[in-house]
Amino acid sequence: MTSATSGRGQWSSQLGFVLAAAGSAVGLGNIWRFPYVAGESGGGAFVLVYLVCVAFIALPVMLLEISLGRATQKNPVGAFLAVRPGTSWRYLGYLALVTGLGILSYYAVIAGKVAAYCVSYGQTLVQGGAHPYHGTSLSTVVFFAVFLVLTVLVVVGGVQRGIERWSKILMPLLVVTMLGIILRGLFLPGSMAGVQWFLTPDFTKIDGRVVLNAMAQAFFSLSLGMGAMLTYGSYLSKRQDILRCGVWVVVFDTLIAILAGLMIFPAVFALGQNPAAGTTLIFQVLPEVFAKMAGGTGIAILFFFLLSVAALTSTVSLLEVVTAYFVDELSWPRSRAVWVVGGATFIVGIPSALDMAGVAPYSSLTLVGKTGFFAVMDFLWGNLSLALGSLMLCLFGIFVWGLHRAAAEIESSAPFFSSLSGTWRFFVRWVCPLSIAVILATLFGL
Ligand code: TRP
Repeated sequence: MTSATSGRGQWSSQLGFVLAAAGSAVGLGNIWRFPYVAGESGGGAFVLVYLVCVAFIALPVMLLEISLGRATQKNPVGAFLAVRPGTSWRYLGYLALVTGLGILSYYAVIAGKVAAYCVSYGQTLVQGGAHPYHGTSLSTVVFFAVFLVLTVLVVVGGVQRGIERWSKILMPLLVVTMLGIILRGLFLPGSMAGVQWFLTPDFTKIDGRVVLNAMAQAFFSLSLGMGAMLTYGSYLSKRQDILRCGVWVVVFDTLIAILAGLMIFPAVFALGQNPAAGTTLIFQVLPEVFAKMAGGTGIAILFFFLLSVAALTSTVSLLEVVTAYFVDELSWPRSRAVWVVGGATFIVGIPSALDMAGVAPYSSLTLVGKTGFFAVMDFLWGNLSLALGSLMLCLFGIFVWGLHRAAAEIESSAPFFSSLSGTWRFFVRWVCPLSIAVILATLFGL
């Protein structure tokens, strides 16, 4: 970002925004969460519902969120207050901040585990022997802390420019590496059953829970419903095309998720593993695939390194949103804000880390139908809160800001949007809020 005359940062170019937004969107959500949720939700049917949710619910919400950010040039709390000063809409902004911290607190645990795998495969390469990482409680907490510190350092330095430049090389490299792993998986005997399981919808498997999981996964994967896209949109200049950027991010993000599925499930079936293994799915499956690959250790290092980078651009966006609030609204110095929020996230995340390492009270806790502190956090913040936030954002657009204003904001840099504006408003007014509300209501058994 370069400093604009307003004193706030601004993306140096349209590509800068797309890369940062795609960097926020593409991460563990695509490569770790999408396969594990799809695995628990029955495969092909889930994938189909997911694609429908992305196109008809998430994409319209994405355009609304970015346009509110660009129109107000504010963080989530500031944006709602800028449109309607002194009202309780600010609490929607606070919800976004709490959600961001909540997600970051367990997301960074998985990110730390990915980094740990990278380091551990590195040791294997140097010392020989098998990939030794077991994830004791100490090492899980330490890698979690290290990942948070890395995130803090990036956000303090505001080295977005550096990240922009790196992601131009590393993102395509991640795609290529994944293609290589997919190819190896497809050559394992029995893998076709996995392809079929992943791509053929069995409609009898679609129920309320599958639909909720798919919709929430769409919000999670696209970083929607907690003000991340709003904040990134606030750094856009008025000339930059929200429509093109939004569509591009959605397409790219969805492609990566599908590739991740093709990387995991053929191998799951060929190796006789359980697709519904849950949050540990990729960590159980991929090492077996790497073990069967020529040069597998090197590929494993490369893959877990690139996945760590993809996770870092996502954790940066989560931390950046919360930081922007303290800096903009409370005038805290940037570095103080980042360290305080990072420290708080570490404390909140410790139980998730202990759960991941299998430490008793945390891994056996059962709440809201989920077992384990980690799964409970993922359900509350990664599912419920994002759906609720997106629903409230639609209501804010409809009743307070005015969808014609939102449409005008998009149209001002994308004249072509005028022909789509009516359809878009129809979706944001009816389709998105009603379907989110119905899905949430089914969840609570209403
Ligand atoms: N979308 C990211 C991923 O798929 C995770 C993420 C980053 C996120 N920022 C977010 C999720 C904001 C929800 C809201 O890995």
